[in-house]
Amino acid sequence: MANITLTHDGKTFEFPLTVGSEKEGGIDIGKLRSGSGLVTLDPGFVNTASTTSSITFLDGEKGILRYRGYPIEQLAEHSSFVEVAYLLLHGELPSAAQLATFQQTLAANSLVPEDLKHLYRAFPRTAHPMAMLGAAVNALSAFNEDVSDPNVPAQVEAASHRLLAQLPLLASWGYKHAKNQPFAYPDASLDYVSSFLKSTFGLPTAPYAVDDEVRRTLDLLLILHADHEQNCSTSTVRIVGSSKANLFTSVNAGISALWGPLHGGANQEVLEMLELIHNDGGNLQKYVDLAKDKNANFRLMGFGHRVYKNFDPRAKIIKGACDRVLAKLKIDDPLLDLAKRLEETALKDDYFVSRKLYPNVDFYSGIIYRALGIPTNMFTVMFALGRLPGWVSHWREMNALKTPIGRPRQIYTGATERDYVPVAKR
Ligand code: SDX
Repeated sequence: MANITLTHDGKTFEFPLTVGSEKEGGIDIGKLRSGSGLVTLDPGFVNTASTTSSITFLDGEKGILRYRGYPIEQLAEHSSFVEVAYLLLHGELPSAAQLATFQQTLAANSLVPEDLKHLYRAFPRTAHPMAMLGAAVNALSAFNEDVSDPNVPAQVEAASHRLLAQLPLLASWGYKHAKNQPFAYPDASLDYVSSFLKSTFGLPTAPYAVDDEVRRTLDLLLILHADHEQNCSTSTVRIVGSSKANLFTSVNAGISALWGPLHGGANQEVLEMLELIHNDGGNLQKYVDLAKDKNANFRLMGFGHRVYKNFDPRAKIIKGACDRVLAKLKIDDPLLDLAKRLEETALKDDYFVSRKLYPNVDFYSGIIYRALGIPTNMFTVMFALGRLPGWVSHWREMNALKTPIGRPRQIYTGATERDYVPVAKR
């Protein structure tokens, strides 16, 4: 592709085009300010690529999502969350031996430093689990100083393994604290997801049998959430890591960004919205009309996406899984039928169609989490559990690319120079 030419103030500037493996073109404006004195302005980075990346590819118009080139539909059908985590971290699907070693490494690192329990005890029982998860992940920095140097590959590998291995238990401890139940420990004889289920829902008073349908379904949800290129929380992990902050505190920043209701917090908001509509007699049109009313400060949570302007492939897979899982678990959840009717009503309404607002990954996921017995305020923690391999992979890639410290410019619109006025004269 030819260079891009910009003419300003009687001068012409040429900028090279960077073209990706999927033929996406980006104007490389590395010399824009030094040459023209101009910067670009793009709140929310709607039109701005912050980096090149070889981890995940999205095509919002075609509803395409691929991790390291593999379509999400194939990974959802054939892979496992631990195998997807390996793929995202290393760029290739593991051999049987590599997968076995990876699983053993995670199991061997799954115990959380015992003193971290005291941190949870400082929280009220009513604390949001994301508040506890973020605090605990940041606290891991203090227990892992031996692997916190981002410039030492062996330390990066060890930190990646420890964080991937320990996040499930940190998530389950938040659940146990809220329930005032004893904290459990991982079971290294079980697979990654089964160990999480047992440490979360198991009790010392009785053996815990993992329901295979629940395990498979949770594994699927974690795969679907594992990465999504430069979303808000992943971009946060990258920019925090660009200051050479350690992996644990960089991921803590990602957890904070994910918590927002416009991002990962939406899955909890969707369930609460569906319950609100259900308890209000199921009057869908009333809430669809509210979502269209700019003065109502109400959005149809789980609808819309910055990138997907056709459909979110993950939402399609999750919607399909809803029927299967609820039937297998013999659960009849009126909120599923309500969600389907809400989708149908909205997608007949020009407001949503003209703005290309379709169900996203969060619209149906809460229905399944609920069916698996996961409380609503733990939904975003489950999103974080799934997204962790993506965050870790992007943090590693940012370091490998020797990305300079993130420091955007701005266009100043405040007061121009003026002299100080003594208080007696104001
Ligand atoms: C995730 O980026 C990722 O990849 C994120 C994610 C991931 O895997 O990491 O996919 C996960 O965060 C999914 C999104 C979850 N959030 C929600 O479901 C919250 C509800 N949706 C939105 O708030 C919104 O759609 C966003 C935040 C998802 C996208 O916002 P954009 O791209 O900045 O779009 P916008 O806010 O500028 O909206 C464009 C128009 C506006 O109307 P007009 O000003 O043109 O009249 O669409 C309207 C908005 O008011 N709009 C909605 C709406 N979403 C957008 N109106 C009603 N209900 C909605 N849900």
